[in-house]
Amino acid sequence: MSAPETKEAIERAASTTIRLEVARYRPGEDDAPAFQPYDVPLMADWAVLDGLNYVKDHLDGSLTYRWSCRMGVCGSCGMNVNGEPRLTCGTFLSEFGGGPVRIEPLKGFPVIKDLVVDIDDFLAKLSSVRPWLVREGEELPLSTEYAQTPAQLEAYKQYSMCINCLLCYSACPVYVLDPDFLGPAAIALAQRYNLDSRDMDDRFDVLNQDEAVWGCTFVGECTKVCPKHVDPAEAIQRYKLTAAMRSVLPWSRR
Ligand code: SF4
Ligand code: FES
Repeated sequence: MSAPETKEAIERAASTTIRLEVARYRPGEDDAPAFQPYDVPLMADWAVLDGLNYVKDHLDGSLTYRWSCRMGVCGSCGMNVNGEPRLTCGTFLSEFGGGPVRIEPLKGFPVIKDLVVDIDDFLAKLSSVRPWLVREGEELPLSTEYAQTPAQLEAYKQYSMCINCLLCYSACPVYVLDPDFLGPAAIALAQRYNLDSRDMDDRFDVLNQDEAVWGCTFVGECTKVCPKHVDPAEAIQRYKLTAAMRSVLPWSRR
């Protein structure tokens, strides 16, 4: 059976409503963010994102937020839901009982409008770790096949699951206090390539810094909120060991 689509059909199908308290803010025009209440139908299979889409489609078209895939893949729908960084497409409204559900932009990032944050800082940090396979002494284009064993794949696969949702940055007290901190996902993605048997870099110049792995105080919130089980806290601690070994044995790379 297909889902009801009109406002009337949705309201008929829902037995009750739930209140969303949504942060609204237009920098340069508003003095401060303010919460706007919206009552939306409480459908059993609705995620928080469905509630926001209902607001956008039927109550207030000016509400601004990001989303795309609706299935935990694109990483664009991250917001603070009742104080915790969550993927709104993977967080069900029914989890919050009678509500209200308070929805805010991810902490630690400048707000562009309402629930949309500016992620340029993360994108610059991500490219600084060279998130690609680095090869040396080869002519392009590459025509050789680089086979890997299952064990070699397993060595980095967990870190490759990152969807750049930035929940880990929002949860990280170090990043919120020090925006220069390289941060959990960028370090985990650096490790994704460091641990790939095809890669010839070790990203020591970027990672062995006070503002990189040594800035992490191992609070571990990044790992707790990660929806893809990447475990960035483990990636950071693991590289600390690598960096320490490399200081003692300069020829050791990983
Ligand atoms: S490490 Fe996890 S929480 Fe952080 S950006 Fe990647 S998927 Fe999101
Ligand atoms: S909409 Fe793509 S991860 Fe939520």
